[in-house]
Amino acid sequence: MTSMTVNGEAIHYRLDPETPLLFALRDASNLTGAKHGCYSGDCGSCTVIVDGRAALSCQLTIAAAEGADITTIEGLSADRAHPLQQAWAAEQVSQCGRCDPGFIMALAALMRATPNPTPEQLSSLPNICRCGATPRILKAIARAAQIAAPVNAADGVKPSAEPVDERLNSSRFSNGSST
Ligand code: FES
Ligand code: FES
Repeated sequence: MTSMTVNGEAIHYRLDPETPLLFALRDASNLTGAKHGCYSGDCGSCTVIVDGRAALSCQLTIAAAEGADITTIEGLSADRAHPLQQAWAAEQVSQCGRCDPGFIMALAALMRATPNPTPEQLSSLPNICRCGATPRILKAIARAAQIAAPVNAADGVKPSAEPVDERLNSSRFSNGSST
């Protein structure tokens, strides 16, 4: 039996310890927000937060996650009020929607410590949108930073002086279509 906390609830998986966390979450816990994309660590669609850090759940066995505190998109906020979720809806980011949970979870972990991520930080994310929604994703990141600013200030997190959308020119995030 492999135990961990998932979205605040103690979970005990009676599965092969080598089972990828992605499959345990989706098939045993019915938490289908994390998506099965490439299964090779190259798309980011399976991203969840493990002990405060973004992690690719397709690349992590449940044995490796023993005792960890896991957050999936289903547990990110009680009422979908997280700034990134609000911004995603306001900017109408979703096209097929397959990349959304992974992007939001990766960005939620990143922007907790860095409200206005640098182009280098964004480029280092493994997340990919196959639908060309990248320009809208950038707008959502900027909007989320604005929404989160009062919360972060209360938490003592200092935002960058420059808006994120004015600093993103050279990263792969600037290569999507304009739709
Ligand atoms: S399914 Fe995990 S990175 Fe693509
Ligand atoms: S909206 Fe389809 S992969 Fe991003």
